[in-house]
Amino acid sequence: MKPFLKWVGGKNKIASQIEVYAPKIIHENYCEPFLGGGAMFFYLVQKYNFRNIVLSDISKDLIDTYVIVQKKPLDLIRILNEYKTHFLASNSQEDFYYQIREKFNERSFLDKVEKSAIFIFLNKTCFNGLYRLNSKGFFNVPFGFYKNPSFYDEENILSCSKCLQNVEIVSCDFLKIENYLSGKSFIYLDPPYRPITKTSSFNNYSGKSFSDSEQERLATFIKILSAKDHQILLSNSYDESDYFFDLYKDFFIHKIKASRNINSVGSKRGKIEELLISNYG
Ligand SMILES: C[S@@+](CC[C@H](N)C(=O)[O-])C[C@H]1O[C@@H](n2cnc3c(N)ncnc32)[C@H](O)[C@@H]1O
Repeated sequence: MKPFLKWVGGKNKIASQIEVYAPKIIHENYCEPFLGGGAMFFYLVQKYNFRNIVLSDISKDLIDTYVIVQKKPLDLIRILNEYKTHFLASNSQEDFYYQIREKFNERSFLDKVEKSAIFIFLNKTCFNGLYRLNSKGFFNVPFGFYKNPSFYDEENILSCSKCLQNVEIVSCDFLKIENYLSGKSFIYLDPPYRPITKTSSFNNYSGKSFSDSEQERLATFIKILSAKDHQILLSNSYDESDYFFDLYKDFFIHKIKASRNINSVGSKRGKIEELLISNYG
């Protein structure tokens, strides 16, 4: 089983590397408040038997799609199949893509199942699986020009649906996540990364970039969670500065090597160092 979406900053390739830094004795509840493609969740849920799981992200369209995968996978697959058939039969796949993007932005779909099918369709046919909204909240990623886009893997959607049963899935700012926790939890946080250069990194998923003041708001919140004995594991970028070492000076900080998917600076693609910050040794 793997994530059913491509996601910028997705942890699919390094989930096992990250797991090395999970607590040796892990709390019975799991929470992931910057869900995106959910790579860590899908990896961990196959290995651990968590009692309660809470997944969340600020993107409502993303979270609605998870809820449809959870509750109506067969209806979703049926509509995805219709989109795939029309796309493959169309004279101009590029024109078809822009028509569907417009439909998404005009919110002219029938219901949340169709919206979710469109969300997955756009994710698989747009440039690099990027999810970017402009300041008006419109999805503005161009067509991806893939020869054989994968669209969806029916069995994988059904497996994802199975492991999302009994999971609480909510759309909210990370600060609200405490309202949904039931008991001490292992919380993996993968926020938009702090850009390693002024122009290099994509960290604007929601029409608003995740600035240093957001990183600091998050650090304040993490310290509150830590004081309540939740187990914290946080990913972020490493730019050779002391920024995160200062921000998390009472935490354990490890460097790992990771390959970065999207970086506008070609020379910065490939393996780079990232940080994993935890409140346990
Ligand atoms: C780096 S991505 C997470 C990638 C994910 N770990 C994966 O493997 O695909 C960061 C996510 O944080 C979400 N996000 C941004 N600001 C947020 C906020 N204030 N509260 C909650 N989620 C937020 C974005 O929508 C995005 O999906």
